[in-house]
Amino acid sequence: MDSKKYETEINGVKSLEKLNELEIKYLGRNGLVNDLLSKIKEIPNDQKKEYGQKVNALKRSINQLIQTKKLELQNKKSAVYFDKTLPGKIYPKGSLHIISNAIEEITKIYEKIGFIRVSYPEVDWEYGAFESLNMPSNHPARDDVETSFIDAPAHPKFGKMVLTPHTSNGQNREMRRVKTPPIRMINISKCYRPNWDATHTPMFHQFEGLCVDHGITIANLKGTLDYFAEKYFGKGTKTRLRPHHFQFTEPSFEVDVTCTVCKGSSDVNGEKCKVCKSGWLELGGTGMVHPNVLKEGGINSGEFSGWAFGFGIERVIMMKYGLEDIRNYYSGDIRFLEQF
Ligand code: FA5
Repeated sequence: MDSKKYETEINGVKSLEKLNELEIKYLGRNGLVNDLLSKIKEIPNDQKKEYGQKVNALKRSINQLIQTKKLELQNKKSAVYFDKTLPGKIYPKGSLHIISNAIEEITKIYEKIGFIRVSYPEVDWEYGAFESLNMPSNHPARDDVETSFIDAPAHPKFGKMVLTPHTSNGQNREMRRVKTPPIRMINISKCYRPNWDATHTPMFHQFEGLCVDHGITIANLKGTLDYFAEKYFGKGTKTRLRPHHFQFTEPSFEVDVTCTVCKGSSDVNGEKCKVCKSGWLELGGTGMVHPNVLKEGGINSGEFSGWAFGFGIERVIMMKYGLEDIRNYYSGDIRFLEQF
């Protein structure tokens, strides 16, 4: 190979891309050096050694030339592109997700009145999700159409594993943790149910309040609900309790708050409010803790009483901002999320 030719060619290269091409041309698998080496078969035996040494020396020399040129070009490239005076790139600012913000806000509201934020497992035994809550094995919510069961061996005492369908599984765990009341718990975590429509997603969040102490009554419950409604939805928001049924509370209620759009009047500019139709929006379930639940948590129901509630986080945000479709939270659509 003409040594002058490759030297001139490599030294004359002006870009890294071109140099890469030359590296392949000379040193690549099908390059010129390998081509020369493969020709060794045709060389007479007594000259093979010398021929091989010459080709290897050529290979080293080309490689050195290429590496030196590479360094030179890389330095040149950074010298050309690095201008300290250019303004930096401005990256778009991120923010917390709307659900994370609501969790923080709700936690702060309850912390002000002495509630402690806890998080209990999102995968629990049937015992925590149902049995400890006075829900017998034939309760419809325990059906696999309503609850997602984990494909794992059942616990001999606590039953099968489930994705928790509500945060009420925290009640028994909190009673067992604190042992002797007072208890002021706010349990926030993910819940799972096989639903998917404008107001339901398979994964959602609930916040669960639990208050157990001497002489706790529905009056304390109503006061705490009113306090939350005013702090979260705004001054003047009122709550009402409607009789309902839950296995783990007695008596049980559904809680409504005055509609954030029509302010409870059910009238918007002379027409029926489209968001609530009645002046009220449903917040979630509540009631006085059932004596069987207290007993299961190791608490003497003759001495202590308490209340509990469980509300959906996605739902309270929808109510606050008059949103229509819960699925937007998880659509990943930045245009939706940027509004909050
Ligand atoms: C319960 O889950 C009870 N554990 C609440 C409770 C706790 C009552 C303590 C008494 C004492 P419910 O099934 O109604 O109740 O659910 C409560 C709230 O969770 C609903 O009002 C709704 O806001 C929310 N929710 C339920 N399912 C879904 C879902 N698939 N997607 C989004 N939010 C949901």
